[in-house]
Amino acid sequence: MDMKKRIAERIAQAEACCFAGCGVTCDELAAMLEIPPEKKLGDFALPCFRLSKTLRKAPQMIASVLAEKLSCEEIDHVEVVGGYLNVFLSRECLARSIVEAVLANPGRWGASDVGAGKTVCLDYSSINIAKRFHIGHLSTTMLGHSLKRIYDFNGYRTVGINHLGDWGTQFGKMICAYKKWGSREEVERGGVQAMVDLYVRFHQEAEQNPALEDEGRAWFKRIEDGDPEAMEIFTWFKEVTLKDTQRVYDLLGVTFDSYAGESFYNDKMQPVVDALREKGLLTKSQGAEVVMLDDYGMPPAIVLRSDGATLYITRDLAAAFYRHETYHFDKCLYVVAYQQNLHFKQLFKILELMGCDWYKGMEHVSFGMVSYEGRALSTREGYVVYLEDLLNKAIEKAREIIETKSPNLPNKDEVARQVGVGAVVYFDLHNDRTKDIDFRWERALNFDGETGPYVQYTHARCCSVLRKAAQAGVDGAAPDYAALSDDEASDVLMLLSRFPETVRKAMDQSEPSLITRHTTQLAQAYNKYYFEHRIMDESDPAGTAARLALTRAARDVIKTGLYLIGVEAPERM
Ligand code: ARG
Repeated sequence: MDMKKRIAERIAQAEACCFAGCGVTCDELAAMLEIPPEKKLGDFALPCFRLSKTLRKAPQMIASVLAEKLSCEEIDHVEVVGGYLNVFLSRECLARSIVEAVLANPGRWGASDVGAGKTVCLDYSSINIAKRFHIGHLSTTMLGHSLKRIYDFNGYRTVGINHLGDWGTQFGKMICAYKKWGSREEVERGGVQAMVDLYVRFHQEAEQNPALEDEGRAWFKRIEDGDPEAMEIFTWFKEVTLKDTQRVYDLLGVTFDSYAGESFYNDKMQPVVDALREKGLLTKSQGAEVVMLDDYGMPPAIVLRSDGATLYITRDLAAAFYRHETYHFDKCLYVVAYQQNLHFKQLFKILELMGCDWYKGMEHVSFGMVSYEGRALSTREGYVVYLEDLLNKAIEKAREIIETKSPNLPNKDEVARQVGVGAVVYFDLHNDRTKDIDFRWERALNFDGETGPYVQYTHARCCSVLRKAAQAGVDGAAPDYAALSDDEASDVLMLLSRFPETVRKAMDQSEPSLITRHTTQLAQAYNKYYFEHRIMDESDPAGTAARLALTRAARDVIKTGLYLIGVEAPERM
């Protein structure tokens, strides 16, 4: 059980004794408990100002009365400062309760069942067919993957959806170019890049020969009509793209439950359009059919073009209904860059106007842009960094570092992959998602800074301590938790005890970076502990057992933290 809850319970008991009849619940108290900015103000502080309204007494007076009454094994002492009740925990008791709680359920500290019986759909990565996977796609992929793990960890059923961008006139042009200048072998060999090249050539040639545009459109029409040849090529383009992308997903360890993309909704939009019309939400505007949204400060959303063609938002409307009917979701998250803020605001508003109450469970998890070594990426200027190249380079660099730092490490290739990929993923999920990210090698792969490798290294250090203890056979005694009363151990313990709260917050705010940073702090605190204390001491088996238990708990929670952000934790580095 977490310490905050336990203290809240103790305060609730004291409160019930002192101010019978008009108290607040234990959960309310737990919510009120703050973590003071400075250590000298205690481990927890209860601001009594809100209580003062219900209890009709001065905050200071409430704090003093409670202070009088509060005495239990968990609390060392309390102090009253202003209207605050500052609680100092008994370090021995704190240590025992936290370490035992963490170790009771390895790998599950911070897990919960708040999502039991509930479903969350997560739309992430959502790549476009025949485009190469570049580092601009890293955030959607990893944020989504991490959020999926966080929701899983909290008992939800999760559905990961790769809403493929597999519809649009460009595919007609691509087939046209392929028929004229391409060959099967070339595309099989070159993968997505070969398709991109064909597309670029199409545009170059179309400048000289505008009739090509008509041919491209004709091919798209054939896709729309389900013409067998067009469909065969188009389906194959999709397969080639997915095969190429799968290599990156494999490196990242990312998976999906569904690849239903835009074209999947071809036959599912009519009912939505009909419903919109029935509800009087469609307006004719220059031949197109739109939903007017100026009452909500938004431009109109075009649902049908004047030629009857559907749009991105039409497909998203159909997808929303489909997901709702298929998965009965409680929440549906869209992890998509902030450039699409308006799109999702329009989408949610239209669903609201249609009377679909479930729109309330939908959320656009937006995020900032990625630049590379200080420069904005631009396809037009040819400044692109492909994700696969970036990951491979990271693995290579990690391999070099390992080669110098630990030349005798077994399975160096495997560890290099875990560290290289981990560095990139950690870097991506380290800052608030709404901030733009500038990817820098020296900041991602540094073993000393706030980086993936640093945290992984700390995990490996804990593993190594425990291995050595097992070899020496010193880990048998009953732990004496009084041995964990020093400041460095308390820092580790506090971070362990607050981890579940951080996981919950990360879920509620769709912000995995909270876990990244918490896990980093834990690693830093453990390292400080490690450097200032001797863990194994033959003359003190009970103290040794306590220090090893702390090490085990730290290792476990660091591993969980890394897991939740999609980073692996090698046992040796
Ligand atoms: N493929 C789109 C893009 O790259 C992202 C799709 C996001 N998901 C959605 N349901 N609209 O911009």
